[in-house]
Amino acid sequence: MNRKAHLFKNEFIMAPLKLGYCHDKDGKVNARHLEFYQKRKGPGAIIPEPFYMDAGLRENPFQLGIDSDDKLEGLQMLADVIHANGASFIAHINHPGRMANPSIPGNYFWSASANPCPAGGPIPVEMDAKMMADATHLMKDAALRAQQAGADGIELQVGYGYLLAQFLSPITNQRSDLYGGNLENRMRFPLEVVIALIESLDIPVMVRLSASDLVPFGINPDDSKLFALKLQELGVVALHITAGSACTSPAWYYQHMLVPKGKNWEFAAGIQEVVSIPVIYHGRIHDKKDIDFLRKTYQARYFSLGRAFVADEEVVGKLFGLQDEPIRPCLACSEACLGGVKAGKGLGCVVNPLVNTRFPDLQPADLPLHVAVVGGGLAGMQAAITAAKRGHKVELFEKNELGGQFRLAWLPPGKESLDEIVDYFKRELDYHSVIIRKMEATPWILEDEQFDKVLMATGSVPAIPPIPGLCDYHWAEVLEKDNLPTGKKILIIGGGLIGTEIAVSLIGHHNQLIMVEMMEDIARDMEMIERKVSLQKLVQHKVQIYTNSRVTSVANCSVSIENSKGELIEIADIDQIIVATGMKSYHPFELTIPFTWIGDALKPGKAEDAIKAGYEVALSL
Ligand SMILES: Cc1cc2nc3c(=O)[nH]c(=O)nc-3n(C[C@H](O)[C@H](O)[C@H](O)COP(=O)(O)OP(=O)(O)OC[C@H]3O[C@@H](n4cnc5c(N)ncnc54)[C@H](O)[C@@H]3O)c2cc1C
Ligand SMILES: Cc1cc2nc3c(=O)[nH]c(=O)nc-3n(C[C@H](O)[C@H](O)[C@H](O)COP(=O)(O)O)c2cc1C
Ligand code: SF4
Repeated sequence: MNRKAHLFKNEFIMAPLKLGYCHDKDGKVNARHLEFYQKRKGPGAIIPEPFYMDAGLRENPFQLGIDSDDKLEGLQMLADVIHANGASFIAHINHPGRMANPSIPGNYFWSASANPCPAGGPIPVEMDAKMMADATHLMKDAALRAQQAGADGIELQVGYGYLLAQFLSPITNQRSDLYGGNLENRMRFPLEVVIALIESLDIPVMVRLSASDLVPFGINPDDSKLFALKLQELGVVALHITAGSACTSPAWYYQHMLVPKGKNWEFAAGIQEVVSIPVIYHGRIHDKKDIDFLRKTYQARYFSLGRAFVADEEVVGKLFGLQDEPIRPCLACSEACLGGVKAGKGLGCVVNPLVNTRFPDLQPADLPLHVAVVGGGLAGMQAAITAAKRGHKVELFEKNELGGQFRLAWLPPGKESLDEIVDYFKRELDYHSVIIRKMEATPWILEDEQFDKVLMATGSVPAIPPIPGLCDYHWAEVLEKDNLPTGKKILIIGGGLIGTEIAVSLIGHHNQLIMVEMMEDIARDMEMIERKVSLQKLVQHKVQIYTNSRVTSVANCSVSIENSKGELIEIADIDQIIVATGMKSYHPFELTIPFTWIGDALKPGKAEDAIKAGYEVALSL
């Protein structure tokens, strides 16, 4: 039998993403999983989330399992849904080793050596021969069960700092036996597992490999080339190339917007030079431009997309040119996908209101209305597009520029990708023939023109605390290029998301920065990877941070700060004060015709809230 035949039905492969949808924590496939995968149309293969092979090896409490036969029925349903979409089902098998989730009771931690992950986690047990045999057996059993459930192939995880990568990496493998030391020894256990799988399965085996840990002395691209050659010799049918590790370089693992795009692609090209089996390019491949670049620059033939499928379930049809609408872009923010999984809510999406929500599919409106949307921020634009899609005649009023506050969100360093959603919304407005009125809406215009319904998406404005003497201050507008202060002593009042982003943006401009925050911690509402990176930068640049403290008065260029112990601190010679103490809804007027507040105008929140609110209100029209 030709094991390689048609494993990929086309060149697009959906990468594994933990969904965190087993709300009953039973590890079984449920309606949420089936619906999620059923909606992902068009890929040549889908690699669902890793299935835990043992209840003591879970990466997430809400993960799918493959550890027992009672999971088979659900896995078969999953296979059927994927097959009905015309895709192959590739089961991803991962032993997390020391990276099993330490907060799950009963989890155990094994590794090549007894080194804990420096980012946290217990000291793992160094595996002996019996433990290696047991782990191999577990992986083989899981793969056989996947085959029984209808999987067309197996992807073995040898990357991202999980068990097999812990054997490969000189950082985590300090053994002095046959399984440690030089590359040949470090490769030995992963290769033994590959052999065990290939020998026992009738379906092909591919490998996911971090070509580099992207940390000094870790797995490097040259070693990965030699390893890739060995995998090819053993009969592995394809290599899914990525980079980074769950422990030491999560920003690379999750291809966060803060790390440069394209590094993974260079690594994949390096591997492609030495092997003849398919090499799958991966990491922030989001649109036609990326595909064209990869084809032209590296002659790439296979592409794996993760979050692009979350942001737009129809991305493949749009890449193939079968649908005209623009691709809804993944912003690489990790905010609601990774953030949702970590928070126990399950994978969601900032830009796609249909992920992990119970909104019904769009239906044409029973009675088309003449709708005005006031405010072209994220909430207003999403509402206008959805209402227009349902057949309403929509006019959108914006007094400044489309995008609203979010036009400031992408200005901090590394966050440029956030701008893509504003661009997308503009194209969608055009595509759905929303009439844009570049003017301030007033009650008399709206009432005169007799709109049937007005959606008030007027956003929010900074909430300024009543601090005696505070009269000359700035807000997030300092992020704009022409406003960026340089060489100044700056006090930032408020250390939430916006205050912290402002601080990070100003440190590169020779400013001396002082932050004052009433709560015990700063950046609490920031996405976790961005938060970690931002806090590191603030520490490196010696930003003075006063938590549990509040500014009590301002006089000339001096400020008084009081901490929770009642101690007073005076800071003199301040050149500029920036206030980022939260937002309050902006209600410029009310109307006598039917209207509804939405987005920040109803309750200040984040981009995800604004977009969901816009979608939801348009469903009700
Ligand atoms: C610096 C900064 C960074 C941020 N970073 C993030 C982030 O990383 N992640 C995240 O999720 N969220 C972030 N946010 C929050 C996010 O931008 C907001 O939650 C979201 O944009 C709110 O959208 P909205 O449409 O409700 O309101 P707004 O964006 O405030 O839009 C309101 C619009 O209404 C217009 N308008 C008002 N009155 C009228 C009128 N009478 N006629 C015509 N037009 C009118 C305004 O000009 C404006 O364009 C950030 C916000 C800021 C300021
Ligand atoms: C919420 C989330 C969960 C993920 N879980 C896994 C996982 O369990 N195993 C894995 O190999 N990769 C996992 N990934 C990584 C993705 O497969 C992919 O490498 C990453 O999202 C970058 O690619 P993209 O830009 O195409 O999304 C996860 C990513 C996200 C965002
Ligand atoms: S939450 Fe952000 S990173 Fe995650 S899929 Fe949506 S847009 Fe992409």
